[in-house]
Amino acid sequence: MESVYLDYNATTPIDPEVVQAMLPYLTEGFGNASSVHQYGRDAKVALENSREQIASIINCEPSELYFTSGGTESDNIAVIGTAYQLRKKKKHLIVGAAEHHAVLHPAEHLHKKEGFGLDLLPVDAEGFASPRQLAELLRDDSALVSVMHANNETGTIEDIKTLADIAHQNGVLFHTDAVQSTGKINVDVKDLGVDLLSLTGHKIYGPKGVGALVVRQGVKIAPLFFGGSHERKRRPGTENVAGVVGLAKTLEIAEKRREADFTKLSELADYFIDSVSRRIPDVYFNGSRQRRIPQTVNLSFEGIEGESIVLSLDMKNIAVSSGSACTSGVTEPSHVLMAMGKPAVVSQGAVRFSMGRSTTKEKLDYVLAELPPIIERLRDMSPVYDR
Ligand SMILES: Cc1ncc(COP(=O)(O)O)c(C=O)c1O
Repeated sequence: MESVYLDYNATTPIDPEVVQAMLPYLTEGFGNASSVHQYGRDAKVALENSREQIASIINCEPSELYFTSGGTESDNIAVIGTAYQLRKKKKHLIVGAAEHHAVLHPAEHLHKKEGFGLDLLPVDAEGFASPRQLAELLRDDSALVSVMHANNETGTIEDIKTLADIAHQNGVLFHTDAVQSTGKINVDVKDLGVDLLSLTGHKIYGPKGVGALVVRQGVKIAPLFFGGSHERKRRPGTENVAGVVGLAKTLEIAEKRREADFTKLSELADYFIDSVSRRIPDVYFNGSRQRRIPQTVNLSFEGIEGESIVLSLDMKNIAVSSGSACTSGVTEPSHVLMAMGKPAVVSQGAVRFSMGRSTTKEKLDYVLAELPPIIERLRDMSPVYDR
């Protein structure tokens, strides 16, 4: 077995068909989409065709789609752009406690440095936000609610439609980070009923450094960048034409494969979870078995730090990730699992196995053979594991 990649929620390889679609715009079709000559006009046509294609797949208007450098930028523009636009009358934000840092950190920045009120919407043990709790947190001066569609660490899929409805009943805008859901489950902007939605290319076999923010018609956000008039002045800067063409191709392919991939990954994930639980004691599944993007399997191994498991598996050419961030030798428990009420020892022992197109039963069997002795050895050394 050469290597097993199980970190598809971090990033994916580019689909060769996507590379082929992008190549002409990196070579002879290199024009600047703002130029008036033929080179520019060709680039502009490619850009606008891609915009229409993506808009039709996710069901929004092409004029509602703004291209960005990816999920982080889209999230920042959504949170900060809305806050700045409404700050004279509304200075309160509500964001999910299990959000990605691309949403949490701008919200915390606005709170700590710019005087915005901030409430974190709690999640339950499976990672779901409660509509009732959202209703309780909403205030007259709330500007924005931001809750992610699918969680990157656990895969839990939120009931965005219901949450967005509650925000709207109170006259508050709603943003969802759909970075982990787009292309994996049905993402229909109109049906979800959100005002703002972020997506990115590189989690679904597209290029890195390109994404989009959907801003519903009539919703005003303050720009964070100034310069040219690209993307209707909301995101100035020479457009990444090849990247956007790649993003459109990525979504076209993902849409065609979506249902078959979902079924295949659900079966593989179930097989993996059940096999690990049979072979290793004191393992906990984090998230929802029923409502999650199936490629995400988050397991906690009692008594061991996730980071040690990640490093041991890496030595066997198995790539996974731990939810926790290791900064200067100190492992912080995952904020997502802590928000789900997991004790620190369980959060610290979490490992995310995220599957994708190259995952097979044979590859999982290799992991299933290597994992038990690693866990056994680490537990033998663990000062906290009590057999
Ligand atoms: C849920 C979520 N939001 C945002 C991001 C950031 O996206 P990007 O890497 O495109 O900046 C990620 C990537 O890890 C993510 O998983």
